[in-house]
Amino acid sequence: ISALRAALQSYRGTQNDRQASPTRIALVPTMGNLHDGHLELVKIAKQQADIVVVSIFVNPTQFGVGEDFDSYPRTLDEDVAKLATVDADYVFAPTVDEMYPVLPPPTSVLAGAITTQLCGQSRPGHFDGVGIVVSKLFNIVQPDVAVFGQKDYQQLAIIKQLVRDLSYPIETIGAPIVRAADGLALSSRNQYLSAAERQIAPVLHQELQHLAQQLKNNAHSQQAVESLLTETRNRITDAGFTIDYLDIKTDALDSLVNTGAMFNAENKNLIILVAAWLGRARLLDNQLVS
Ligand code: PAJ
Repeated sequence: ISALRAALQSYRGTQNDRQASPTRIALVPTMGNLHDGHLELVKIAKQQADIVVVSIFVNPTQFGVGEDFDSYPRTLDEDVAKLATVDADYVFAPTVDEMYPVLPPPTSVLAGAITTQLCGQSRPGHFDGVGIVVSKLFNIVQPDVAVFGQKDYQQLAIIKQLVRDLSYPIETIGAPIVRAADGLALSSRNQYLSAAERQIAPVLHQELQHLAQQLKNNAHSQQAVESLLTETRNRITDAGFTIDYLDIKTDALDSLVNTGAMFNAENKNLIILVAAWLGRARLLDNQLVS
């Protein structure tokens, strides 16, 4: 932490040579085992700032009992080599002891109701762990801009709320989901899939696209939407998944209010979100309806 702070201090208050404007620092937080989705975040950060810091830290406080903290893939050397190809400037890869002198930390960062729905239902405490580690990273790096992926849509919404409520002077950017050619959202956890499961996995994205199309085409009653959701859930389950949730929310993650014809011009900023298990992998995806 102190070495990184000292390195970054030398840039603060200086001008960059390109435009003689203040040097901007960007942060891209990750848990490592980097793939093209992570590297895309770095490329976006590079466009936004002069210096890009990538953190690699498998954060114990966001894993529940019985989850994959111990088996989460740790590939620091490969990660650093990949980061060099996209011109990242600094890699911050602290130990657990340095990040958490006391574990679990007695101090908490709780983001309220937004954390208990969707992924928070099946992973209680998960977003409290994300909240504290991201707060710490923000305080350690003090970036001007931080880049997160829209794949973890709820996490992004929680971080935006955190920045607002704790007055972090940080611009938060949400980057589009990077997918494999067959549509599967890239994820470090995809490697838990067997070859056969990997063939099935793109069904999730296909079904979200299909549902978004159906919602877009017509105005639907609450009842019609419920039956579209049920049909979609059934097809995903039939393909071999075990669904955690499949839901439609406003893009602010508010629940939809039953207003009769829900999907008309008035509330068009909707998002479909899914979490589903396929074998050992819990896959996340989402699709804006617009
Ligand atoms: P991790 O799962 O490693 O993801 C790091 C960042 O990469 C997150 O912002 C995530 O949304 C983004 N990302 C992952 N897959 C992506 C994809 N296919 N397309 C676009 N972006 C993608 O999310 C975490 O780590 C942690 O919770 C963290 C924020 C680092 C806190 O510990």
